[in-house]
Amino acid sequence: MNRQILKSSHFAVERGTIVRIKTLSPHEKLFEIALPGNARLNHDPGQFVGVSVFGVGEAPISVCSSPTKRDTFDLCIRDVGRVTHAIHALKEGGSLGIRGPFGRGFPVRLLEGNDLVLIAGGLGIVPLRSLVQYVINNRRDFGKVSILLGCRTPDEMLFGDEIEQWNKRIDVHFACTVDRAAPEWHGHVGVITTLIPGEMLVPERTFAVIVGPPVMYKYVIGELLKKQIPDRQIIVSLERHMKCGLGRCGHCQIENLYCCQDGPVFHYDEIKHIKEAI
Ligand SMILES: Cc1cc2nc3c(=O)[nH]c(=O)nc-3n(C[C@H](O)[C@H](O)[C@H](O)COP(=O)(O)OP(=O)(O)OC[C@H]3O[C@@H](n4cnc5c(N)ncnc54)[C@H](O)[C@@H]3O)c2cc1C
Ligand code: FES
Repeated sequence: MNRQILKSSHFAVERGTIVRIKTLSPHEKLFEIALPGNARLNHDPGQFVGVSVFGVGEAPISVCSSPTKRDTFDLCIRDVGRVTHAIHALKEGGSLGIRGPFGRGFPVRLLEGNDLVLIAGGLGIVPLRSLVQYVINNRRDFGKVSILLGCRTPDEMLFGDEIEQWNKRIDVHFACTVDRAAPEWHGHVGVITTLIPGEMLVPERTFAVIVGPPVMYKYVIGELLKKQIPDRQIIVSLERHMKCGLGRCGHCQIENLYCCQDGPVFHYDEIKHIKEAI
């Protein structure tokens, strides 16, 4: 596999200013970041950046807004440990180190002109949001678009207001499910795979994009294969522990693949023979 030639900007840490913070849940916050002079990040949907807090460390975080948003970009960060906790403690006007963008994002040029099924489970909505926003902002470039979302309980569903807007669009088919319903939930109940059999998909022109927890991939891919979607047209985004982001340290390696450089986005035919990938 050809690894991208690293631009020198990948190594440099840029100073990002936190323009706005929105609390999405007790554990997740959305940070809107501006680079000096409102320079563009120049990312592809699905790529990630190294986000650092001085004196604490760095964490890989997906860019969760579309490159069509020009002056700023969004990061949705779950507070799980040292670095993410330090980021959560920052206030609007504070600054972060930004390195990247890194990795291979979603192949938007390849997706153009085709029908799309965009599938996210749990926190998978975070990286997928950049692609959904991109597709909606360039809606005429794509065929039929379905967005299928799933999470464990209704209160775990992030970006509720934005999802409501996706649901209202007449040019997007939207479905959402929860594993366990609350009394006020009137929607679908069941794991995300239960949404796929009802989808009318034309295999020759359908690309499926899946982002979610590791346990979900095997079963979702199984349902898509039953619908005759070719391996090459099934696209997944894998999350692995990462350190350098540059293909050097080996932290993210799965056999001969480096998730930080060759991925995190892969076509299913590239990884289906690798047991520990899915
Ligand atoms: C390509 C990529 C994109 C990511 N995008 C996002 C994102 O958009 N939003 C977000 O909140 N998180 C994202 N993550 C996960 C995020 O990088 C980790 O949660 C973060 O590095 C944890 O650092 P910490 O110092 O806060 O936690 P630590 O103190 O290092 O660890 C706390 C806990 O988190 C676990 N952990 C650490 N690193 C990872 C990792 N890479 N993946 C899974 N678990 C980990 C540890 O095992 C431990 O249980 C992404 C990871 C990758 C590889
Ligand atoms: S994170 Fe170091 S090789 Fe991928």
